[in-house]
This record gives sequence, C-alpha cells and structure tokens, in this order.
Amino acid sequence: MTLTADPSLEAHLEETRDARLETYLDFLRIPSISADPAYAEDCRRAAGWLADRLREAGMENVEVAETGGHPIVYADWLHAEGAPTVVAYGHYDVQPVDPIEEWMSAPFEPLVVGERVLARGASDDKSNVTILLQAAAALLATRGRLPVNLRFIFEGEEESSSVHLEPWLVANRDRLAGDVAIVSDVGFFEGNVPALTVGLRGMMYAQIDVSGPFQDLHSGGYGGTVENPLNALCTIVAALKGPDGRIRVPGFYDEVVSLSAEEREALAALPFDEEAYRASIGVPALIGETGQTTLERKVARPTLDLNGIWGGYQGPGGKTIIPARAHAKVSCRLVADQDPARIFERFRAYVLEIAPPGVQVDVQDLGGGFPTLLPLDHPMLRAAARAMEATFGQPPLFIREGGSIPFVATFEQTLGLPTVLMGFVPPDGNFHAPNEWMDLGNFEAGIRAMVRYWDELASPGE
Ligand code: BES
Ligand code: MN
Ligand code: MN
Repeated sequence: MTLTADPSLEAHLEETRDARLETYLDFLRIPSISADPAYAEDCRRAAGWLADRLREAGMENVEVAETGGHPIVYADWLHAEGAPTVVAYGHYDVQPVDPIEEWMSAPFEPLVVGERVLARGASDDKSNVTILLQAAAALLATRGRLPVNLRFIFEGEEESSSVHLEPWLVANRDRLAGDVAIVSDVGFFEGNVPALTVGLRGMMYAQIDVSGPFQDLHSGGYGGTVENPLNALCTIVAALKGPDGRIRVPGFYDEVVSLSAEEREALAALPFDEEAYRASIGVPALIGETGQTTLERKVARPTLDLNGIWGGYQGPGGKTIIPARAHAKVSCRLVADQDPARIFERFRAYVLEIAPPGVQVDVQDLGGGFPTLLPLDHPMLRAAARAMEATFGQPPLFIREGGSIPFVATFEQTLGLPTVLMGFVPPDGNFHAPNEWMDLGNFEAGIRAMVRYWDELASPGE
C-alpha cells in the first residue's frame, strides 16, 4: 500500500491504528438489524453511537433525524470555501444473522483473525461507514480542516428498502446541496482488485400467496378432488423460467438495454477467473441464460430467483395433509432500462394467467428499485480513479455490480448530483451470509483512498 501524500496524516493514522480498530469493533457490537422490529432499539443505539463519534471527530450540525423508521444520522463540515461539497452516504443497518449455527463465532462479537474481522456488518456496510468517519476524523485531527465541504448521510434502513430515506431527502433537499455524491456501499472486484462501481442492478420483489380449502385437509379423504396449493405453487414456479435460462414473463425483456460490443469487450477484459469463482461458492457447475458469459449474467442481465418457499408440514415423520396455503418470495434483479413497477405488473399478470384452477392466487409487491448505470467519463469519477490509483499503485477497474442499491436512482433524481460508487469491501466478504468478514488491509487503504479523493476534488490533478 502506498502512503498518503500527507506524511503527518500518515503518521497519525499509524499511531491511532489500534484505537481506530477498537472503534470499528465497538460499532460492530451493536446488532442494528433493520428488518427485525426486535432490534429497533439497537438501530437507534447505532445511530446515537455514530452521532457521538461524528461529534468527537469535529463534524458539525450532527443530528439524529427522526424519519418514522430507523433514524438517519446527518453531519456536516462546511468551511472549505470555494471547494466542492461532497455528500457521502453509507448505512449503519445490517442484515439478519440466520442461519446462526453456521457462524464460526457470534455475529455481534467481532473476531479478529489475522487481517480478517468477522462479524455481521463487518463489510456491508459498517466498514465503509467507518472509513468515511475515520477519514474525516484524521483530517480534522491533523490539518484542523477538510479539503472539501462534507455532508454525511448515514441511514438505518438500506437493508429494508430505504423506505424513509426518499421523503427525508425531499423534505431536506434545500439544505443538502452539493456537487457530488459518494455512495460508499460497494467494494472491490473478484480477486480483491481495487475497483469503482459504475452499474448496479435494480430490483422487483414479490410474494405469491396461494390458498385452497378453509383449512388443511386429510390427503386421503380429500386427495384427488381438490387442488393442492403447494402443488399449484410449484406448477407456477416451474413455469417462470425456461430451460434456456430465459424468464418467461411476457414483456420481461422489452426494455432491457443489451450490452454494446464495446461493453462486452470491456467486461471480457476484466480479470475474472470463472473456475475460481465456481470453486469459491462450492457448486458443481455454473448455469444461466444461454448466449451470455458468466460475468454478463452476473452483472448485466436480469434474473429471477426464489428467495423462499413454504407451506405444509415440515416436522419429523409424515403428516398426510393437503395444506390450505402455500407461499413463495421471488426477486428479480433488473438492468437498465427496466422499470420495477412495470415488471411487477407483468409478473403478476403472468402468474395469475398460469395459475391452475381450484386455488386462489395473490401476488404482492414487496418493493423494488431502479437499476443504475453511470457515465464512465464524469470528472468526479475520474478524480476518484486518480485517488484509487495513487493509493493502490494501479488504476481501479470500472465494474458493474450484480447487487442493488435501489435508492441511488432516487438520490440522483432528488439531489441532482453526479454519483460515485466507491467502497472497499472484498468481493467475497460473505455479505448477508454467515461469517461476513472485512479485510483490514482494505479498511486501512480505504481511509487513505478516501482522503486522497477529497484532496483530488479540492485540487484536481495535483
Ligand atoms: N451493499 C449492498 C449492495 C451490494 C452488494 C453492493 C454486493 C456491492 C456488492 C446493499 O446493502 C444490499 O445488500 N442491497 C440489497 C438491496 C435490497 C435489500 C433492496 C441487495 O442488493 O440485495
Ligand atoms: Mn450495503
Ligand atoms: Mn446489504
């Protein structure tokens, strides 16, 4: 890792390394699971904890803003006259921990093993939030000022669709003016190669509910005369995709922008080791839509996946019933220019059309978001690339992510800011899964890269 251009800042970072690690571990000890109401107080505690750290760092106008859900933490520092204003975003909420028995250690008792920190949220997204916080803290401690004007927005509902963020952004639009947004909720490319993200997939999330008789029935007494809701659900699910990996919902691909020849070449040029990828996830083979490479299918093509399916008897032994109800959760990753609401309507119409007779089928929209595709030539992105190159000694890759950050589109529309997706998590950090981890090398380098980026924005190309 290259040192920062600023020796006193580098010395300060070296000196405070252990204390900074402790701060990060403290943050990881707060179980801020946004999806589960049982952890609402912990989300609030995480917001308050962050606000305290921001005040200690010397950030101003620190605020824990009520939203009707988990609070948003805001802070700013606006004394860099003539310099650009950066609006930096991250989220302090984390995903649930299930299946808990597959964790090597307790998810909220962070374990440091060599260069790895193991904990829920260690990468997604408490690492990036801490990097932002500690970059500002180190600058204020050593220079007494920041090179840019800075606003932090740390939300607590990213993992549950950011429902309260948009109204808050709209209500506070006037006091959130800026020149560039840094969304720090992404990371590096396969093989832990430094990268900047220029594309994210969108999302359509639906639940299918199938109901039959008033209550469960004896499968001998009634079997053969009534439709079984679980069988009906499986019939529906089996018709959603074809053997060619294509999604069969009529009109599903209508707005999909196919990759240009140049874009395909650029993707193909990335150092993606397909066999290492396959082996790292433990599957016997990779599958998907015909006519597309693995990497294309991973980041630039839409998907349809069951996330859960349930109903009927799952206890020990047998229980001969026709279950009264069956359910499935389905997510579709979307790409430019698919519109989540239109995709939901087409999905719903198709499910109702193929539903067998004899059951009642309902399809609910569980929320979604638009995909993001950023221009490669934006000066704010180029500045980020220079900062990454200076820090890591190699130019960053420009990558698309298969994951989603649905509010990015809203963020861009509401605040009208160019957005740079810059973050430092390792690509195989087990986000949302057991044994989530962060690489401490990435963490330390991330702080330096963020400082360099802000310096770059203040004096481009110097
Ligand atoms: N940080 C992720 C998105 C992400 C994943 C970026 C992988 C880069 C690599 C974010 O927290 C996330 O998990 N988003 C959800 C959105 C959903 C809850 C609406 C996702 O992608 O599933
Ligand atoms: Mn995240
Ligand atoms: Mn996440």
